[in-house]
Amino acid sequence: MPIEKSELRRVMGHFATGVTVITTFRKSGELHGLTANAFSSVSLVPPLILICIDKKAESYPCFEESRVFTVNILASGQEDLSRRFAVSGGAKFEGVSYRPGANGAPILSGALAYLECNLAGSMDAGDHTIYLGEIEQAEANDVAPLLFFRGGYRAIGD
Ligand SMILES: Cc1cc2nc3c(=O)[nH]c(=O)nc-3n(C[C@H](O)[C@H](O)[C@H](O)COP(=O)(O)O)c2cc1C
Repeated sequence: MPIEKSELRRVMGHFATGVTVITTFRKSGELHGLTANAFSSVSLVPPLILICIDKKAESYPCFEESRVFTVNILASGQEDLSRRFAVSGGAKFEGVSYRPGANGAPILSGALAYLECNLAGSMDAGDHTIYLGEIEQAEANDVAPLLFFRGGYRAIGD
């Protein structure tokens, strides 16, 4: 019998992760972003990462439309940004400090790191789609990460 959704969420919550905000945009230019921790390094040559996006997310159509996205890895102290981008819809970027990246997707000020990606492939995966991103540009800052573990935000040492 397959594991129940809530139990799977509880068990997977024991895998400590960082927290990202993935930014992208609609064909119309409207900016979108969502909090995500289903993010992984895939290949060094060529440089590939993957993300998993819920088909029910408002930002879901953006990925095929813009064919670019940016993974913003959040720093410790950016919990408010994580919470803001984990709510569907609305004017998520209002009052948020960011600059447009080379690919047009927002780079959030104060992020620990960012990776600008071109959509390099996708795979249907149940209620999510796995998107492969080829990294065009990436940068990291020497600050502490925001962590997510057992359903809560943490900092190193907690
Ligand atoms: C810590 C955390 C991690 C999340 N990881 C993902 C993820 O990897 N993929 C995803 O599609 N949604 C993830 N979500 C849920 C989305 O952030 C949430 O559904 C959001 O409202 C989607 O925004 P949108 O509907 O405006 O696109 C996560 C939420 C939190 C709080």
